[in-house]
Amino acid sequence: MSLLELAKKRYSVRKYADRAVESEKIEKIIEAAHVAPTAANLQPVRLIVVQEKDSIDKLGKAANTYDAPVAIIVCADHSKAWIRPFDGKSMTDIDATILTDHMMLEATELGLGTCWICYFKADVVSKEFNLPKHLEPINILAIGYADENPADSERHKNMRIPVEELVTYC
Ligand SMILES: Cc1cc2nc3c(=O)[nH]c(=O)nc-3n(C[C@H](O)[C@H](O)[C@H](O)COP(=O)(O)O)c2cc1C
Repeated sequence: MSLLELAKKRYSVRKYADRAVESEKIEKIIEAAHVAPTAANLQPVRLIVVQEKDSIDKLGKAANTYDAPVAIIVCADHSKAWIRPFDGKSMTDIDATILTDHMMLEATELGLGTCWICYFKADVVSKEFNLPKHLEPINILAIGYADENPADSERHKNMRIPVEELVTYC
């Protein structure tokens, strides 16, 4: 499957089967994160793979992860961030997001469903997982086997803004 076909196939899964995700698949998803680019290669990112019951329960205090068997908390490390000198913009969120996207697409290729989650209480995540001050949870990626009919790969024609609106050529 081409990358574009994979990207079209991916959709947000919000109903998961009661089926564990194989550890080899988790390792491949982590490998996809590991090879992701970051600004100046500073790699200001840390991942917390939440899969034990007590950890899932802790995460449940902060977010709805749709009963997915695995959730990866993607944290930005503000102590290592590359800061653009002209305007002081920190690249941490961008770096964390590239890793998240790599993992999401790898999971799709492995036949898994995912849901990207930002609707969570960051302070509760920090407290429950004892995150040091310099780590900020940016994204949560829920992962598991989908228990619903897959979305149509061609849905983007209706569910995305027109390409002409998205892009300007000049
Ligand atoms: C940055 C970001 C944050 C998101 N946060 C949530 C969330 O908190 N909960 C949720 O159910 N979906 C969340 N989503 C999923 C989007 O709602 C979804 O990707 C979008 O509606 C397009 O649908 P699709 O993923 O099925 O193509 C998020 C997606 C992104 C990229």
